[in-house]
Order: sequence, then structure tokens, then C-alpha cells
Amino acid sequence: MTSPDAAGSIQQSLASLRATFRARFEAASTEQALRDENAKILGKKGELTAVLKQMGAVPADARKSIGELVNAVKQEVEGAFEDRLKALARAARAAELDAPAFDLTLPARPPSPLGHAHPISKVRDEIVDVLVSLGFAVHDGPEVELEENNFGKLGFPPDHPATDMQDSFWTTSGTLLRTHTSNIQIRAMTSHAPPMAYIAPGVVYRRDDDATHSPMFHQIECFLVDEHVTLANLRGVLSEFAERFFGAGTPVRLRPSYFPFVEPGAEVDVGCPFCRRPDGTRAGCSVCKRTGWIEILGCGMIHPVVFESCGIDPEKWTGFAFGMGVERVAMVKYGIPDLRLLFENSPRFLAQF
Ligand code: DAH
Repeated sequence: MTSPDAAGSIQQSLASLRATFRARFEAASTEQALRDENAKILGKKGELTAVLKQMGAVPADARKSIGELVNAVKQEVEGAFEDRLKALARAARAAELDAPAFDLTLPARPPSPLGHAHPISKVRDEIVDVLVSLGFAVHDGPEVELEENNFGKLGFPPDHPATDMQDSFWTTSGTLLRTHTSNIQIRAMTSHAPPMAYIAPGVVYRRDDDATHSPMFHQIECFLVDEHVTLANLRGVLSEFAERFFGAGTPVRLRPSYFPFVEPGAEVDVGCPFCRRPDGTRAGCSVCKRTGWIEILGCGMIHPVVFESCGIDPEKWTGFAFGMGVERVAMVKYGIPDLRLLFENSPRFLAQF
């Protein structure tokens, strides 16, 4: 249904829109406010859209001119919207540039937590540092080893239980993953002549896996070869090591023991660091099983058979050796109850070190 009034009413609506839209856009001070205002005019339910819907009622003779008018107003609105949008963006950028510069004196955010060395690496490095400070140099060697360097030349008889398939990881070509760092004694003594004072930190492998054993673990071997080396020298180095590593006044004791490559051989205990009284005596606690002592390593005077297997004259040269497990020492130093904690690598556990 057309109506002669329709053209007039549309013209009126357009005139009032035309008179106000620029001011309405100017009043919008944010991009969102501007878009909202624009939607009130050009959106689905907007004022101009409502006007367009009335076009059907405009008599045919007026339709063309009214149509042109509507389009003109629509273009004006669109143009004004774009202009205002650009003006707002320019103003925002200018405000940013005018804003005070960054305040470099503000305190920094707390740094995100940095990683740190694994407790095994830390303890290994601390042990190495102490022994280097006592005059030992680091000697490296392979983890895949010949049977003779790991066992034979160290005085293990061929049928020794340690050489058994159950205890060692053998390769198909007859080599094995070294079961201890004592192989470095052989490597050092077969490659150069005494005197020598070395430590050998490294990874070793055994077929073991429980609360106190891991199939892969770390050891540090230490040995000294010179003329007139005695058990007293060994004891002196061990005492000094205990003092520097576990703290002043830490006592050391040697208990006779057997290893094929030393004679005499001993196991070494340190005074339990957990129940020590100020006077140096120990109360006894669960860590040391009420004994006041904790075993940390094996040691002894290098067996003449070992010297001979390396072409060194045992009449002229003597020496001592000791070897310790890094995990074991870490457990003693930090009171860690289960070896596996060191390998599970829970961040909450590691963060304590
Ligand atoms: N190699 C021995 C082990 O793995 C530890 C050891 C004992 C090393 C006595 C030594 C030593 O140098 O003298 O059980």
C-alpha cells in the first residue's frame, strides 16, 4: 500500500538524522561507543534501516528521488563513521606517544624461577672440588669398557661373581658397561708412568634396581701412585676430605674389608652428620641406625698385582685408591631416604637443593 504521506515522513526522518548524526559520532569517545552509535543508525534495527523499510509505501513517482536521498544520507553516515573511527585511532596513538616514557626505576617483576644443577651433579662437583683442592687432577675414560680394564687387570679372577651375567651389562661383542670407575686406575697406569694423582668422576652400570640401588649411578674414583705412599697418607686424605666435604670435626674410621684390587682394603665410615653433638660425639639416629657412623666408600692400598698388570714395578711404587658412590654421598649429606628420589626428578623434590 502506497501512501502520499510516506514520502513526506521519510524526508522528515532523513532530515532529522542528517542534522544529528555527526554530533552523535563526535560524542562517541571510544571505538566501541562509536560502533554502538553507528549500529543504532545503520544496524538491522537502526534508524536508517527502518526508513528503508518504509520505501515500499512511497508512491512510484516519488520513489526515485526519495531513494536517491536515502542513499545519499546512508553514504554520508558511512563516511562520517569512517572519519570518526580514524580520528579516534589517531587520538589513541597520540595519547600513547604523549604518555610519560616507561618508568625504568620501577622494581622488576620477581624473576621466573631459574633451573639449577641436579643434586647429583652438585654433589659430584663439590666432591671433585674438594679433591682437586687436595691436588688430584681429573682423568676421564670410557663407559663401554674392555673386560680386562674393568675386571681382569684389577685382580678379579675370571669366575668372580661380579663378572657374572647377572651383575654386569655385557655387549654382544664382549665389552661391558663399566661397573665401577676403578677402570680409570688401569687406563691411567697403562698409559703413563707414575707418579700420578687422579680422580675419575663418571657413570657406572649394574643390574640392580631397588630403594638403594639404581642400574645407572655415579662414582668418583681417587688414586695416588708415588714412592713411599702409605696407609697413613690414605687416611690423611680421607680425613681431610671428610672435614672439607661434611664439615670440620667430621671423624673417619676404616673397617677392614676386601676388594680384589687393594691390599689391605677397607670400608670407610664418617661420623653421622645428622646426630652429631657440638663436642663431635654422635647421639645415634635413624639415619645411622643408632651407630653414629655412615659408610661412604671403599678404599685400600693398590694391590701389587694391579701394578704388575699395568707394567709398573710394585717394589718401587706404592699407592692408594678409594671409590665412592655420588648418590650415596648425596643421600648422606642431605638425609635423602630413598635413592629413587634422585632419579624421579619431581620438581618439588629438586627445588630443595
Ligand atoms: N670399585 C669399588 C666398587 O665399585 C669401590 C672401590 C673400593 C674403589 C675400594 C676403590 C677401592 O678404589 O680401593 O664397589
